[in-house]
Amino acid sequence: MGGTPTDLKLIDENGRRLDGRRPDEMRPLRIEAGVLKRADGSAYVEWGLNKVMAAVYGPRECHPRHLQNTERALVQCRYNMASFSVDDRKRPGPDRRSHEISKIISEALTHVVFTEYFPRTSIDVYIEVLQANAGTRCAGLTAASVALADAGVPMRDLVASCAAGKVSDTVVLDLGKEEDNFGQADIPVGYVPRTGEIVLLQMDGDLTHEEFDKGLHMAVEACKKISDIQRDALKRRYSARTQDTEIDSTERSEAV
Ligand code: CDP
Repeated sequence: MGGTPTDLKLIDENGRRLDGRRPDEMRPLRIEAGVLKRADGSAYVEWGLNKVMAAVYGPRECHPRHLQNTERALVQCRYNMASFSVDDRKRPGPDRRSHEISKIISEALTHVVFTEYFPRTSIDVYIEVLQANAGTRCAGLTAASVALADAGVPMRDLVASCAAGKVSDTVVLDLGKEEDNFGQADIPVGYVPRTGEIVLLQMDGDLTHEEFDKGLHMAVEACKKISDIQRDALKRRYSARTQDTEIDSTERSEAV
């Protein structure tokens, strides 16, 4: 969030944004489930210019052991940005921002996973941002919940996530990089469509009550659409898996 350089117009006279989107329009989103062989579950998300991979391991024995909870599983997320994911090389390793994002994503996912089914275990979620263009925490959370479902982790529902915000005094959906840098506010939202719960909500910048309500409503409506895209990715994955099994069993019966 910051002042706009005088020559940068975030919304033109026709109400279009820098990339031609209308205020309530999301960037194109593509999700693929089950992309990594060695993880228990995985998902790859391309969302505008963001490219994010999520991998899930577990439920497995919780390490370090002193973190074990005798009542439930621990959902531990690690969000990481690759050095080459941003314009200026990012210094490798964790920093304050990645700790914060890891924590809020862990908390959002903990709300939907039936953690009580797996006492003493850990469900480890790794989010790797390969290319960043604003909205990576939303893309990461969206990818992570698909990866959890792909791993067969029982959940109340998938979490879908999208940000709204304010640029040039207009409430907009899904901020791009320049909008994030030079806009007036950003509100990332994580939403559970089946229960209507909000499991992630942050706000950077200033908004009136009306603008906040409008932005939140926009983000929630977008999350409902994202949830459908997440489900489609899992259905494609499931039908591909079923076909693989059918081919395997045909090959086996032919061999007999
Ligand atoms: O990515 P997200 O919007 O969830 O988080 P942010 O902290 O608001 O960052 C916004 C954007 O700033 C990121 O998506 C990156 O494109 C960029 N960024 C960067 O260029 N270098 C960093 N060290 C961190 C973020």
